[in-house]
Amino acid sequence: MDLVKYVFFLCTALGLAPERTAGQKVSVTLYYESLCPFCRRWIAYQLLPLWSSELKEYVTPSLIPYGNAHEKRVDGHYKFQCQHGEEECVLNTIEACIIKKLGDKTDQLLGVIGCIEDPGKEPGSWHDCVPNDTLLEEVKTCATTEEGEQLQHYYAQETDGLVPAHKYVPWVLIDNKHSALAEMNLKSAVCRRLKDTISTVPATCNDFIVQQQDAHAHDDKEEGQPSSGRTFRPAPAITTAVRAGLAQVLYQ
Ligand SMILES: *[C@@H]1O[C@H](CO)[C@@H](O)[C@H](O)[C@H]1NC(C)=O
Repeated sequence: MDLVKYVFFLCTALGLAPERTAGQKVSVTLYYESLCPFCRRWIAYQLLPLWSSELKEYVTPSLIPYGNAHEKRVDGHYKFQCQHGEEECVLNTIEACIIKKLGDKTDQLLGVIGCIEDPGKEPGSWHDCVPNDTLLEEVKTCATTEEGEQLQHYYAQETDGLVPAHKYVPWVLIDNKHSALAEMNLKSAVCRRLKDTISTVPATCNDFIVQQQDAHAHDDKEEGQPSSGRTFRPAPAITTAVRAGLAQVLYQ
């Protein structure tokens, strides 16, 4: 551990608020599943707007596409069951593969996942979101082989290892701590975190820092899907026809 990290650790341990030095970003981790309407809306109306704001420079987003799925070990393979059916397991795996292939190219990653998860997008047309055929073929190969299975298993472990366990999706962590506020108002949650750790918060935060009291009230709310304060536009329902189309497209 180098000195800077040690001092940061020590200050954190002592409950002091050290200066957040350059390069120390707020981590934003999303636990989600690909066909969950609230997850889609959160990506569209919370994550993408954050990423296209001044706050982009202050955050490191991570995506964990698994959510309320379950895994079983059967005949030497992992089998998955997903809340929104088999199509969701396939799309979770495709997204896991995209996350792996794009690595730390976060702009491209959020572009592709944001496109696939767009509330108005038919899940079966995910291909359109992948920027070129080379990547598309890599993703298809990954999603239909051991590679995709292992990635799903990895995300299963990440999700099942959450302490406290997630109670719904989207489930969002700010610097590895669950934040119900981030699920309702991500910019505000990031700004609050920055306010605790740097002396001068970005100007844009003045619009987003909610009253401290309100914020704590949100954090205390641990049960169920947080509903107050959401200003989401309604998303079209995923119809049976869309699902059938998705299955067809994915397995061709
Ligand atoms: C395909 O897209 C990926 C991601 O944008 C990029 O890294 C790669 O270089 C592209 N490949 C080709 C052949 O254009």
